[in-house]
Parts: sequence; structure tokens; C-alpha cells
Amino acid sequence: LNSARESLYIVSQFAAGFFEDQLWNSADGKAIGLSYFKERGFREDIIKKFNLGYSPDVWDALTLEAVKNQHSEEFLEKTGLSIRNDKGKLYDRFRGRVMFPIHNFTGRVIGFGGRTLKTDKNVPKYVNSPESDIYHKSNVLYGLFHAKKAIRDQDNCYLVEGYADVLAVHQAYIENVVASSGTSLTIEQIKLIARFTQNVTILYDGDAAGIKASLRGLDMILEEGLNVKVVSFPDGDDPDSYMHKVGAGAFKTYIEEQRQDFILYKANILLAEAGKDPIKKAGIIRDIVESIAKIPDNIKASVFIKECSHLLEIEERVLLTELNAIKVAKS
Ligand code: UTP
Ligand code: MN
Ligand code: MN
Ligand code: MN
Ligand code: MN
Repeated sequence: LNSARESLYIVSQFAAGFFEDQLWNSADGKAIGLSYFKERGFREDIIKKFNLGYSPDVWDALTLEAVKNQHSEEFLEKTGLSIRNDKGKLYDRFRGRVMFPIHNFTGRVIGFGGRTLKTDKNVPKYVNSPESDIYHKSNVLYGLFHAKKAIRDQDNCYLVEGYADVLAVHQAYIENVVASSGTSLTIEQIKLIARFTQNVTILYDGDAAGIKASLRGLDMILEEGLNVKVVSFPDGDDPDSYMHKVGAGAFKTYIEEQRQDFILYKANILLAEAGKDPIKKAGIIRDIVESIAKIPDNIKASVFIKECSHLLEIEERVLLTELNAIKVAKS
């Protein structure tokens, strides 16, 4: 038993309880935090399920309460919940934000994301816990604890960008969803998913950044030997905004109907960018074959080559030559 790590878990759990209590029972928490979630369309059962909270908009509300409850300054600092100023005094990292506790896959609180309620562009939208002995963000998937059973049962994992997206997808009664929050997708996170399923469906934001991240993500997922599909959203929407726009039922239908094989998804994006330019089109074909070359299983890869051949109206033989050239160059 590592008692220092244990102390970090304990103070993190205390903080989660404090923020949650503030949300439901304090005047500001109710008027500001809870009403914020409700205005965004989140149901109470979802707010409770994810233990969402509110951090009071004062310097040291959590720090004072924790110290009063015999939690040591050392562990408050090591979790990043409190920060020491030049004068040696501790103050709260999270102030005046709605709080998303981050659980590890056994359900223990290991960190937090805090969303600002301000619309001021100079304020960071989300503040996250720093790395600590219990929180290594590249190894964590937000929502995994609440999703793992459904991921196994459905044999598929939906991957979204943000905390709010995880909540919204749950609200649509789809529980096999996680987010790589606070970081771009890592190999460790993909390996974590692979413990539960070999099938990933990417549901990233429908903006330029989301598309770029999805192309990067799908290559990484393919490289790990998993199957990957993509659902794209209208520009300006993410799973959260879209679910609230169309409602739970229509959202579920949408992701089932819009789910695309990664090749089709990638081809559509690249073809739209290239227009009619034949040189650009040749580049696209190479780009898609590059993705197929990442698939470790040769039989799977050949199935995708066939699909690519139909889609882009290129002879399979030409694509196979290209595939082999890429593989030789890589080896
Ligand atoms: P987005 O900017 O897409 O935020 O970032 P969002 O999840 O849609 O947030 P809402 O709906 O406006 O509340 C996606 C994710 O990237 C991380 C967060 O995990 C966020 O959920 N992020 C974003 C940060 O860590 N810091 C930021 O300043 C912004
Ligand atoms: Mn984003
Ligand atoms: Mn975004
Ligand atoms: Mn978003
Ligand atoms: Mn959003």
C-alpha cells in the first residue's frame, strides 16, 4: 500500500464531494452552477451520475474546507487542487467554475476539469488538474468508468472530444462513450480502449480542428490494429450541441445512419478539398493508401484496398503496388 498515493485519492474524493455539495446546496452553486447545466439542457440524473460540481468564486473555499477537515496542505498541493502563492499561502486552482471530476476506470477520482462560466475570450474555457502521482492525463479516458460495461456489451466505443460530449451522449441513452479530454488522443488511451473492444467510432467536433484531429486519430487507431469508423457533424456542431438540438432519439438515429467506414470518411474529406484537380486526386489516393498501410492485418488491409478501388475508381492492382511501396519504404 502506497500511503502517499492513497492520500492523493482521498483528498481528490473530498474535493469532488465538496464541489458536488456546493452545486446542489449552496446559493451560488444552485443559482450559477446548477442553472448553467440546466440551461445547457443537461438532466439532473446525468448531472448526478457524473458527480458534477461547482467551485465557489472565492480564493480559497476548497482549501479552507479541506484543511478544516484535516487534509494536509502537502496533498492539496500535490493534486494541484491548491496552489501556493509567493507569500506561501494556498489558494484554489478552481474558482467560479462548473466542475467535472475525472475518474480512473475503477471509479476513483483522480483529477478535475473546470469550465468557466464567463464568455470572456481571455479566460481559458477549461482548466484541468495538472499531472500528479495519481493523474497522468495521457493514460486516462474521461467517462471510462461509466462506459466500460456498455463498451463490452456493445463491442464498440464512441470517442468524443470533450466532457460535455460524454454527458450528452449518455443523455441520449448511449453509454459506451469516452473522451480524451485535455489532451489529443494518445496511444496509451487507444490501448486502454482495446482492453474492452476492438471497435472505435470517432465522434469529433464538426469544425476544422475536429476534422484534423479525427484524421490523426483514425491513423493511430488503425496502427493499433483496431477497427475505426467516423460520424461527422455539421460544421459548428459537436455531439453535445447536436444532441441538444435534435433530441435523444434523432441523435441516436443520426449516429447510426451517418457512421462511415474510415476510408469513405477520409476520401470524402480529401476529395472535397481537391475538387477536380487530377494531381491533387493522385495525392489523395496515396494518402488513403497510407492509412491502409497502417493496418497490421494483411487480410483486412486487402479488403480496404478493394473498397478504395471501387470508391475512387482506381484499379486494385495500382493500389496494391502503392501499398507495397509504402510498406517497403517503412520497413
Ligand atoms: P472544446 O473547445 O470542443 O470544448 O474542447 P467543449 O467540450 O465543446 O466544451 P463546451 O461544450 O463549450 O463546454 C474539447 C475538450 O478539450 C479540452 C476539454 O476537455 C474539452 O472538453 N479543453 C478545451 C481543454 O482542456 N482546455 C480548453 O481550454 C479547451
Ligand atoms: Mn476541440
Ligand atoms: Mn472544439
Ligand atoms: Mn466541442
Ligand atoms: Mn461542446
